Amino acid sequence: MNDSLNAEILKLKQEKNAVILAHNYQLPEVQEIADFLGDSLELAKKASTVDAEIIVLCGVDFMAETAAILNPDKKVLLPSLDAKCPMAAQLKAEEIVKAKEEHSKAKVVLYVNTSADCKALADACCTSANAPKIVEAMDSEEVIFGPDKNLGWFVNQRSSKKIIDIPASGYCYAHRKIMGEEIIEQKNKHPDALVLAHPECNPEVQELANRIESTSGMLRVAKEESANEFIIATEKEMLHRLKKENPTKKFYAASENAVCGAMKKINSENVLEALKEEKNEVKISKETTALAKKAIESMLEI
Ligand code: 13P
Ligand code: SF4
Repeated sequence: MNDSLNAEILKLKQEKNAVILAHNYQLPEVQEIADFLGDSLELAKKASTVDAEIIVLCGVDFMAETAAILNPDKKVLLPSLDAKCPMAAQLKAEEIVKAKEEHSKAKVVLYVNTSADCKALADACCTSANAPKIVEAMDSEEVIFGPDKNLGWFVNQRSSKKIIDIPASGYCYAHRKIMGEEIIEQKNKHPDALVLAHPECNPEVQELANRIESTSGMLRVAKEESANEFIIATEKEMLHRLKKENPTKKFYAASENAVCGAMKKINSENVLEALKEEKNEVKISKETTALAKKAIESMLEI
């Protein structure tokens, strides 16, 4: 940890009335300087209530866009413009328009891991913490859902709606690397451990899990459950917060390969730079903001 750098960040935060919101997959050095840590839903909720002039969003592009949509009067800064979620980039607005033409009665629920342009075409957004509930709340039999096919599969198991995936097979490359054999291997090594998996994991991994949870859901379960050992099937950095907040329990990564490169683009140096120069402000047109805000707010209301 770089104490002088962190002291400078703290000073600038106070001077500029700024707040640092960070996702649970951020590097430990970024987690240490954050005012608030959370999953996508918690970050969206926090962004809608936070009292600050500047929000430094340490996460990926769609998270910063969500914060900007909910706070059109605040400056939202993304410390690295390379922090782009490849899954969010898999869905294009034209595909939604086409799917709506083909299924005119269907409602559109999009994972928050989408661009602002896509959100503007959705009836509601969802996150990994609430996807089945949001889909179930739609007043249509068919629901156009994207871009994560694995999350779509998870929803399908828990909902009466017919799910139409767009694109046909969107995925998160980091979660897709976690293999069923790795879970079985870890379970053989740690027979008393509970398996906690993210719904972006492949169905074979979800089927081997004791619980399927968002990143903050995993934190809650690890605290509440009496078990002392957990196998964690999600992005590797998740173990940092789990271990820190549960020092007497043991956590094992399901796979060493589950690393999200986009999340690692942010570090304490570029947080300082963003704050100092107020650079990389997220800008979204007024029209898109108004439409996308409706979809995010529908989620928050449900
Ligand atoms: P959570 O909302 O569960 O934190 O997940 C966000 C994400 O991008 C997972 O890959
Ligand atoms: Fe996107 Fe996957 Fe990274 Fe989450 S872990 S930000 S879905 S690439």
